[in-house]
Amino acid sequence: MSQPSGEAATVPSRDPESRGAWRVPVTVYPSATEASAEVAREIADLIRLRASRGEHVVLGLATGSSPLGVYRELIRWHQQAGLSFRCVVTFNLDEYWPMPADSPLSYHQFMRRNLFEHLDLDPSNIHLPDGAVAREEIEVSCQAYERAIREAGGIDYQILGIGRSGHIGFNEPGSDRTTRTRLVELALLSREDLKRDLGGGEEVPRLAITMGVGTILEARQVVLLAFGRGKAAILERAVLGRIGPALPASFLRDHPGGRFVVDQAAASLLR
Ligand code: F6R
Repeated sequence: MSQPSGEAATVPSRDPESRGAWRVPVTVYPSATEASAEVAREIADLIRLRASRGEHVVLGLATGSSPLGVYRELIRWHQQAGLSFRCVVTFNLDEYWPMPADSPLSYHQFMRRNLFEHLDLDPSNIHLPDGAVAREEIEVSCQAYERAIREAGGIDYQILGIGRSGHIGFNEPGSDRTTRTRLVELALLSREDLKRDLGGGEEVPRLAITMGVGTILEARQVVLLAFGRGKAAILERAVLGRIGPALPASFLRDHPGGRFVVDQAAASLLR
């Protein structure tokens, strides 16, 4: 794949199941930093547009390493360019279960540290699945999460990472396109990665509450971020392999507003 250095290259992906139709753009940036700056700029533009009309904007957010560059840039937009987040409503993809919101391992705390505490978001506009809910109340809590997304008008712009298992959110292989917010078991590969991320010393969570593939695909725009050589093999399967529950990220190719935003290292196996 050729690409002018210093510029993003957009590569249409071919869907082998649809007899030659080209689907879902893959935009390759020279680095994760440039890709993240571009995604953050798009989000900032959307926020400014909605704010100028007196409307709110609903962002779907992810944890993990992939969105960190976007979050750093958004903080910069707020602190240095004065961009206000008062009109922003957020919904996170997932939270471990059981997990108290104040645990340093929780995604609640991850988001607070890496984004929320640096912005002027209204705390009542921030939503994450409740990892502290009792088992018998999980289903009702998940339905309430879905309802809150609907009542906010649906997600305008969803950010995703991709796990080495091919998961989006914690929709592991086997999750089909109709799945909704629910309790799930983490794949072995995902737990290995978590163990590495947590430094190996912590007990690795086994369960999580995640938005479903169906919930994610209802967002108007969905941007999957994949950076680094470690993502190359799974990205290649997600972009060029069969669309189906064996690799939940592949469902993005069926979404008219779906995009893969990647760096050169992650794109290295896309031919
Ligand atoms: C996180 C999430 C996961 C991660 C994925 C990639 O909220 O839902 O799907 O996006 O595991 O993680 P990183 O970005 O750490 O490689």
